Amino acid sequence: MTGAISSYISLLPFLSSVFTTLVISTPIERRAEPAAKPGFNRVWYDDWGHKNGITHNWNFNLGTSYPGQVAQWGTGEIQTYTNKTENIRIVNKVLYITPKKGKDAKGKITWTSGRLESKRGSQWACANGKKMLVEASIKLGSAGEAQQKGIWPAFWMLGDVFRAQGYKGWPEVGELDIMESVNGKREAWGLLHCGVYDGQIPIRGPCNEPDGRGGSVKGIGRGLWHTYGIEIDRTTKNWKTEKVTWIINGVRRHSITGSQINNSTAWEFLTHKKMFILLNVAVGGGFPNGVEPGNALTPFSTTIDGDSVGMQVDWVGVWQQA
Ligand SMILES: *[C@@H]1O[C@H](CO)[C@@H](O)[C@H](O)[C@H]1NC(C)=O
Ligand SMILES: *[C@@H]1O[C@H](CO)[C@@H](O)[C@H](O)[C@H]1NC(C)=O
Ligand SMILES: *[C@@H]1O[C@H](CO)[C@@H](O)[C@H](O)[C@H]1NC(C)=O
Repeated sequence: MTGAISSYISLLPFLSSVFTTLVISTPIERRAEPAAKPGFNRVWYDDWGHKNGITHNWNFNLGTSYPGQVAQWGTGEIQTYTNKTENIRIVNKVLYITPKKGKDAKGKITWTSGRLESKRGSQWACANGKKMLVEASIKLGSAGEAQQKGIWPAFWMLGDVFRAQGYKGWPEVGELDIMESVNGKREAWGLLHCGVYDGQIPIRGPCNEPDGRGGSVKGIGRGLWHTYGIEIDRTTKNWKTEKVTWIINGVRRHSITGSQINNSTAWEFLTHKKMFILLNVAVGGGFPNGVEPGNALTPFSTTIDGDSVGMQVDWVGVWQQA
């Protein structure tokens, strides 16, 4: 989700660099509680029922960058994040993140949206010899693809080192993208970002930046609840055989091992150190542009705003193996 600002020029090879599976997902029509996870303790959870609302567990990220850091959140995305209820609110114990279109004084179209990160103190690592699960129940907007060009919802994690050192150091700090979907596609990407990236090909490092390493799952019905999760598995106690697995509706879809990343330092940032959680809907940027023919600049004039292009989150939690 984050990236060097230059990343948005070079996501074109993206589709060839990730492993894609076509699945017939089992849609969850109604909101569902998290499935039982025998042998795991739930160590953190939010279902938007707290009297303090969103800010009980989360900080808003506001504006167009982290304070003093790379513009447009490092991805080329064009929206301004706010904490206004038109962009981010809780309704009936569901979080809604909603992109909104506006106009500036000169009549130019502007976009706003919402982005959250779990508060300082809310960050988790998988212990050696154990597993950790991070999962959320999410419904993506059901508007047609032409109306969602440039809309980029995401459920992801960043290494806590990133914020501890002033929101810098990407991609070395590690990024786990649990669910990203762009342009209204019935497809969910799950990617890792790590290592080094010098802003230009060919120095792409162990995570093939700026594209990242991982996979995508097609056939994801929009306008339906799905659970998206990531499992970090350190039970082998050997970094090369440790594994990250993306799980959708309880089904394991794709994985990456330490030996595939082939860099123990980069792997440790991704799977041994503490990470915090982010939820957001971006508009425009390298990823949505990169999946369009000719790397077309999104959003388009056909792109609409409102809840039918937004993201809803019913619950999000972290489970650690006992
Ligand atoms: C929203 O952001 C503004 C500007 O930073 C701040 O003054 C206000 O307290 C925030 N409101 C909430 C609910 O966080
Ligand atoms: C391995 O990862 C580390 C930390 O992310 C990085 O500094 C180093 O350059 C990487 N090594 C290679 C060969 O890419
Ligand atoms: C893995 O990394 C080692 C040491 O940096 C290197 O010699 C080897 O070629 C790499 N293997 C692959 C498959 O990239």
